[in-house]
Amino acid sequence: MNVEDCKQYIDHVLVTADEIQARLAEMAAQIDGDYAGKDLLIVSVLKGSMNTLIGLTSKMHITAPVDFMSLSTYGKSHFSTGEMAIRADLTEDVFDKDVLIVEDIVDTGFTLSWLTELLDKRGARSVEICSLLSKSARRKYPISMKYVGFEIPDEFVVGFGMDYEEKFRNLDAIVVFKLHKDISTTESEKY
Ligand code: IMP
Ligand code: MG
Repeated sequence: MNVEDCKQYIDHVLVTADEIQARLAEMAAQIDGDYAGKDLLIVSVLKGSMNTLIGLTSKMHITAPVDFMSLSTYGKSHFSTGEMAIRADLTEDVFDKDVLIVEDIVDTGFTLSWLTELLDKRGARSVEICSLLSKSARRKYPISMKYVGFEIPDEFVVGFGMDYEEKFRNLDAIVVFKLHKDISTTESEKY
């Protein structure tokens, strides 16, 4: 899906499909250099990171196993609240691995500060974060991110893996969403 296909829901485009791909290529090159010869394990946090994962790994020149984790914060809020639950755990053992977490967006930092601590406890040799987007203005839980695609303002975005009520993940760009009555009046009222 491209911007033309859903323009009625879009306030404005933040990052175009071409800009995303170009930035992912730069990040992949950095990762190639940093992880050559290491025991890299890529951990993808479902579902939002799916596009970033594929874009990034397909541009890398080194190979590494990929594993998935599904996490959820309690409650159905857009923004993380308090407690984290593991919906689906990794199948690989992270012990002694150089783990690279791939994410779509870091907002308050709650999800990734929690996950980084968990993987540390499980004995990973190193844990680093690669996120396509960062909303630094909203950070409440300090985390260090080795690779960041784009810094974005405090606005709700969809596309390239990120959803609004499970929709628009398949949009090839990142856009600021227009909270549209046709999608959900009750959700728009929260804003
Ligand atoms: P954090 O735990 O507050 O850093 O939030 C991380 C998660 O919140 C991300 O993985 C997304 O699933 C979700 N999120 C935060 N901001 C947005 C947004 O603007 N659009 C879509 N999802 C978002
Ligand atoms: Mg995510």
